[in-house]
Amino acid sequence: DDQQIFLGIESSCDDTAAALVTGDRQILSSVVSGQTALHADFGGVVPEIAARAHAERLDLAVEQALSQAGITLRDVTAVAVTAGPGLIGGVMAGVMCAKGIAAGAGLPLIGVNHLAGHALTPRLTDGIGFPYLMLLVSGGHCQFLRVDGPQDFTRLGGTIDDAPGEAFDKLAKLLALPQPGGPSVEAEAATGDPDRFALPRPLLDRPGCDMSFSGLKTAALRLRDGLIADQGGLRQGDRADLCAAFQQAVAEVLAEKSRRALAASPAPVLAVAGGVAANGAIRAAVEQVARDAGVRFLAPPLALCTDNGAMIAWAGAERFALGQWDGLDLAARPRWPL
Ligand code: KG4
Ligand code: ZN
Repeated sequence: DDQQIFLGIESSCDDTAAALVTGDRQILSSVVSGQTALHADFGGVVPEIAARAHAERLDLAVEQALSQAGITLRDVTAVAVTAGPGLIGGVMAGVMCAKGIAAGAGLPLIGVNHLAGHALTPRLTDGIGFPYLMLLVSGGHCQFLRVDGPQDFTRLGGTIDDAPGEAFDKLAKLLALPQPGGPSVEAEAATGDPDRFALPRPLLDRPGCDMSFSGLKTAALRLRDGLIADQGGLRQGDRADLCAAFQQAVAEVLAEKSRRALAASPAPVLAVAGGVAANGAIRAAVEQVARDAGVRFLAPPLALCTDNGAMIAWAGAERFALGQWDGLDLAARPRWPL
C-alpha cells in the first residue's frame, strides 16, 4: 500500500527517543529511554554524559521502534531527526544516526526543529487546523506561539530568564527532593498550603506575554533559609507549603499571561505542550482561561508532552508534505529559534 511512514529520532536533551508515525497521524510505536539515573548525582543534565548515552542507545531505540511497529526500514518513507536546538553533543549523535540510516536505506532525511515538534503535537494528537495558540513550557523553554502553518510560528512572548521546568528543578534541589523536580514538587504540593508563604508574581504588573521565573526561585531560597535560621531546619509541612506556594505562583503567572496571549492574538484553540504541561495545577489553571474565553483547550497525553520521537516524526511528516527535506550535509544546530 502507499501509506507513508516516518521514523522520528530525538536526542536533544536527556531522552533518547525513536518512533514511527504514519502520514495520517497513527503512532505505530514510540520508544523513550530516559537518563534520569545517569545524571542523578550531578543535580542536572551533564552534556558529556548525555551525548555518550545517546550515541550508545540510539541504534537500539530505532530497532525497538521498528520491531514494536512490526515493520522494517523498507517500509519507512523518510527519516526525521531533531537537528536543534539542544545540547550539541546529543543533537549530533541523533543527526549522525539518522544520516547513517538515510544513507544506508536510501531514504530522504528531514531535519526538524525540536520546538516545532512540541508545537505541532496538537495536530498529531487531535488533527486540528491552523491557526492556534500554543503555550510551550518545558525544562529549557517557555513561550507563547501563534501557529499559522507547519513552519509559520510567531512568538508572542516568553521567559526572559529561566524556563519554569528549570525553576521546578532548582526548587527541588533547594529542598532536597528528587530530580526531575517538576513531578516531585507537584507531589509535595498536593499536601501543602499554597497561602502560607507569599511568593511574587513576576512581570504580572507589566503588559505583554513576557515572563520571569528566576525571582521566584530566589524568593523560595530566601524563605527556606529563613525557616532554617528560625527553626534550625525544615519542619514537617514546610516543604509541602513551599512547593504549593511555588506551583501556585507559576500556575497563576502562566494563566494570566495565557489570558493576555489570547486577547492579543485570538485563536479558536489554546494548546499546551512541554514537560511542565504535565503539571495538573498548571493545566487546570490554563484550561480555565481557555474556558473563560470560549476557546477549545488541548493538552496532549503526558507521554507526548515530554520529549519523544513521535512529535519529531510528525513534524517531519508535515515538512515532507510540503515537499521539503534535507541533504546528507544536514547540520546540528545548538541554537535554532523558530
Ligand atoms: O519537555 P521536557 O521533557 O524536556 C525539555 O525541557 O525539552 O521537559 C522536562 C521538564 C523538567 O524540567 C521537569 O521538571 C518538568 O519538565 N516537569 C514538570 C512536571 N513534569 C515534568 N514540571 C512541573 N510539574 C510536573 N508534573
Ligand atoms: Zn522538549
